[in-house]
Amino acid sequence: MEKLKIGFIGLGQRGAAYGMKDGSIGLLGNVLKNSDDVVVTVVCDKYRERLAAAAEKIVAHGYDMPMQTTDYKDVMNAGVDAIIISTSWDMHVKVAIEGMKAGIPVAMEVGGTHNIEDCWKLVDCYEETGTPIFFMENCCYNKDEALVTALVRKGLLGEVVYCQGYYAHDLREEIAGGIDTHHYRLKEYTENNCENYPTHQLGPIAKILNITSGNRFTKLVSMSSKSAGLHEYIVNNPKYKDRLGDRVFKQGDITTTMIECENGETIFLKLDTTLPRLYERGVTVSGTKGFYCQTTESVILDDGKYNHELDSYKKAFFNQEDYAEYLPEDWQTITEEQLKAGHGGMDYIMLKHFFRCLRERKPMEIDVYEAVTWMSVTALSARSIAKGSVPVECPDFTRGKYKTRKTVDTFEVFNN
Ligand SMILES: NC(=O)c1ccc[n+]([C@@H]2O[C@H](COP(=O)([O-])OP(=O)(O)OC[C@H]3O[C@@H](n4cnc5c(N)ncnc54)[C@H](O)[C@@H]3O)[C@@H](O)[C@H]2O)c1
Repeated sequence: MEKLKIGFIGLGQRGAAYGMKDGSIGLLGNVLKNSDDVVVTVVCDKYRERLAAAAEKIVAHGYDMPMQTTDYKDVMNAGVDAIIISTSWDMHVKVAIEGMKAGIPVAMEVGGTHNIEDCWKLVDCYEETGTPIFFMENCCYNKDEALVTALVRKGLLGEVVYCQGYYAHDLREEIAGGIDTHHYRLKEYTENNCENYPTHQLGPIAKILNITSGNRFTKLVSMSSKSAGLHEYIVNNPKYKDRLGDRVFKQGDITTTMIECENGETIFLKLDTTLPRLYERGVTVSGTKGFYCQTTESVILDDGKYNHELDSYKKAFFNQEDYAEYLPEDWQTITEEQLKAGHGGMDYIMLKHFFRCLRERKPMEIDVYEAVTWMSVTALSARSIAKGSVPVECPDFTRGKYKTRKTVDTFEVFNN
């Protein structure tokens, strides 16, 4: 079997674990370690030292020296079978369109977009070229989200009426540290006030609610708290006080968003990244027959096992393992080594599925319509907040096709 030739664009923390001291391996490390059927032939980043570090890793894994370039357009003429984009958010659509126009399948990292026009451009480009594009929402491959999706599909939670999720992650050091690392979040938090990272929690929820596949988002409302956490962190930190102490951040500490769906469900999202806290996606699904909560790893079915008293519910904390039989095969058979391959195994499974879809010419498991629908929440939330938290209409990027089209769940086509 000939190996798939891959070009990597964006070799920072996520792309190549550049500058990371926490044992992360990044997407590049994951591919080098776990995907025998692909070879990285081209690497691209704006910074030469990042190129050199990535090339060194590739050679250290026994592969040939890759082509290195600072101009992403060069990657399109380098004979690759696919590109993986893990640049800053502002470049995702631009690079993806360039790749798709060149007929090169694209895997695009997650993030929101500030620009609804960009969403339409991406859709139009896909419809004109037919080039596959995969949105790399790894949380759609995570164990918890896989479990609750399976419980919903089996009907165990009944009719789903409400979902909730957070991107709650103390990123104060990453954001302030951008003054040295060039990390884009520093600029983003300075200039914008919105739900800037909706897709980790919203992706799995949208899949559960069949968004773009019989259902759609109709409107949303967002509200942001004041911005205090980042400034306080900076003025108390000698590394940043002099350089960033005067900076005024537009981004509120907590941004909450409510989305209404055409089929009557509602969704609550929270962005919480500039105050001390634990990491939490908090995916919660409420149905007529049951409830799932990721934070306490709880499944509560309407089977009389738990009564309404608080102590009774506490017995359901961390009981999700009792439902492990419903997990997809991928999660039942995962190895210790694969569990270590980025974000507790979900990155490994996601990449495996992407490469397999490419090879077997299967439709991408998270497609362009899903990508732009989830990403657009950023722009729509900014609009709502700027106008005093007014409701904002959500565009139908499928142009009516959502009524009949069928998306796939991430474990529907390949379950192992
Ligand atoms: N799925 C996940 O779990 C996960 C985790 C972290 C980050 N991400 C996503 O990965 C992406 C990158 O995030 P990060 O934290 O690695 O950021 P980063 O700033 O560390 O890395 C981005 C890299 O892109 C490069 N870049 C920017 N514009 C470019 C251009 N025009 N040409 C070539 N290279 C360019 C930058 O030089 C930088 O090295 C973001 O979309 C982020 O949301 C996803």
